[in-house]
Parts: sequence; structure tokens; C-alpha cells
Amino acid sequence: MKRIKLWDKEFEISISEGKIQQAIKRMADQMRSELEGKEVIFLCILNGSFIFSADLLKELELADAEITFLKLASYSGTQSTGNLKELIGLNENLQGRNVVILEDIVDSGFTITDVVRQVKGKGAADVKVATLLFKPDALKTEVNLNYVGLEIPNDFIVGYGLDYDGRGRNLKDIYTLVPD
Ligand code: IMP
Ligand code: MG
Repeated sequence: MKRIKLWDKEFEISISEGKIQQAIKRMADQMRSELEGKEVIFLCILNGSFIFSADLLKELELADAEITFLKLASYSGTQSTGNLKELIGLNENLQGRNVVILEDIVDSGFTITDVVRQVKGKGAADVKVATLLFKPDALKTEVNLNYVGLEIPNDFIVGYGLDYDGRGRNLKDIYTLVPD
């Protein structure tokens, strides 16, 4: 198994690039059939979803897609703090719009629950959530996930947009923390 070291921690490959791309293709097929012909604005949650959003949106090929970004941070090291910081706010007019939120991973669920609340608060007509990864065993909130790429165990991971203290986002595959 391929291993890498980021800062002080070792990680082992757990989801290959091929498996990630297959999951994205499945999500795109499902989303295209449900969203085609609708006016949709995609809201990418930065930083983690930048690679997933790019790959999914290219795969989707929706003619009239609008794309915007919200930058949040809640993780410190390998722990979710539950304490959300908004670093770039939501300035778009979402009144009456169909919004699809693009997230890299739903862990405790606090982030996505807060984003959904904000988007609804701005008067969106319809709000859907697409997440590449979901850790069902870590969930602490009630949240409706419309499109899920892969369900994964409750372990800390990096790669494909996800980081450990700023490193690992550029990896093509996903790696799981090896406990010391
Ligand atoms: P939640 O609010 O606990 O659901 O966490 C959501 C955010 O924490 C995600 O958008 C990620 O950016 C980050 N996160 C959650 N799990 C992991 C992980 O295993 N590795 C790296 N970042 C993670
Ligand atoms: Mg994120």
C-alpha cells in the first residue's frame, strides 16, 4: 500500500483516483437527469471542494450553470471544531433560485447544516446538497444529502482537496491517517 508523510503523520492510500472519478461520473449522471433544463446556481464550499467541484462541473456539462463560492473553515488539525469561520461570505442574490451546494465531505454535518440554513435564509426556492464523501458514523446533525459519492468510515483522510493543516490537497488519490 502506498504511504505518504504530511507534517508529522503517516497516511496510507485508501481510495484510488479511478474510484473517485467513477463516483463523480455516477453523481453527474444522476444530477444531470434531475437538473437539466433548470436554472441552477452551484455553491462550492472552499477550500476542500475545489477539485471535486471542478471535476463534477466539467462532467455535468450543464449549459446554463452559474457557479459561486463560499469559503469556510471549521477543522483544526485532524479535528472538526464545530466552530465555523466564514472567510469569504455569500454575496449572491439567491432569492427564488435553485441552489446546489457542492461539498467535499460531510463529517459531523455542522458545516453543511449551517450552509443550508444560510442559503434558505437568503430565499432560495430549492436547496440540494451534493457531497463527494460522507462519514455516516460521524454525523451529529440531521441533514438531507441529495447526492453522495462514497460513504466512508469515520477516519481522518487527506487528498483530492482535503488537507491536513494545509497539506495534501493536491493528491489525486485519497489517503487515510495511519494511527501512531
Ligand atoms: P463537518 O462540519 O464536521 O461535517 O466537517 C466538514 C468540513 O471539515 C469539510 O468541509 C472538510 O473541509 C473538513 N473535514 C471533515 N472531515 C475531514 C477529513 O477526514 N479530512 C480533512 N478534512 C475533513
Ligand atoms: Mg470543506
